[in-house]
Amino acid sequence: MRYVIDKMTMSDVPRVIEIERLAYPSTWPPSAYRKELQDNRWAHYIVLRDKHILEERTAVPQEPEKPRKNRLFPLSLLPGRPAATVPAPDLASIIGFSGLWLMVDEAHVTTIATHPDVRRRGLGELLLVSLIDIAYTIGAKWVTLEVRVSNYTAQNLYRKYGFREAGLRHRYYSDNQEDALIMWTDEINSPNYKQKYLALKETLLQKLEAE
Ligand SMILES: CC(C)(COP(=O)(O)OP(=O)(O)OC[C@H]1O[C@@H](n2cnc3c(N)ncnc32)[C@H](O)[C@@H]1OP(=O)(O)O)[C@@H](O)C(=O)NCCC(=O)NCCS
Repeated sequence: MRYVIDKMTMSDVPRVIEIERLAYPSTWPPSAYRKELQDNRWAHYIVLRDKHILEERTAVPQEPEKPRKNRLFPLSLLPGRPAATVPAPDLASIIGFSGLWLMVDEAHVTTIATHPDVRRRGLGELLLVSLIDIAYTIGAKWVTLEVRVSNYTAQNLYRKYGFREAGLRHRYYSDNQEDALIMWTDEINSPNYKQKYLALKETLLQKLEAE
């Protein structure tokens, strides 16, 4: 498959923040990621990479360019010019991220976002599936999250994976005082949930493999 999930590291954070700015009305300060990644042992953060972007950006040209006489330097290499800010290939290949905290036996999804250019391809779903897989691995029994009442896109994704509304947190979001829906899965180890989850995951992986 062309997509890979990696554990988020501190060096990924600048790209994560770039995507976060495109995805959310308000964002976390970079220090929040530092805390999450370095100090919070209950936190699990992942990034989604597109291997095609990585390959394209690191590809070695078949025939190296021959040196030319009087070749002009790129403007950005002239003294006094700032270097062009092209992200390193491994950073540019990040197209989404997500995370959760384990609280006793509950996995709390804290964030999930894909770059706007790659939406509706199953990649938000891949991030959610990866989080649910982590929830199984770390022994969570339920998965829960908060979502803006107006965020039907994300709610649809969560409903697809068996999340159900369990209440409201009034004026939860400080940027616009919007309410949050609280959503929970059933017990993820229940045969019913697991069967549906594995079937959805299989369908998704087949779709992404076929790309
Ligand atoms: C929510 C988000 C991660 C979905 O990412 P995505 O890559 O577009 O999602 P997918 O292509 O994997 O879609 C998965 C499911 O989400 C729902 N969905 C996605 N886009 C949708 C849309 N435009 N309208 C309605 N439902 C939509 C569908 O249920 C879809 O399943 P389907 O393909 O079987 O219909 C993405 O829109 C995003 O980053 N939004 C901004 C950040 C955000 O709101 N995060 C959630 C915070 S709680």
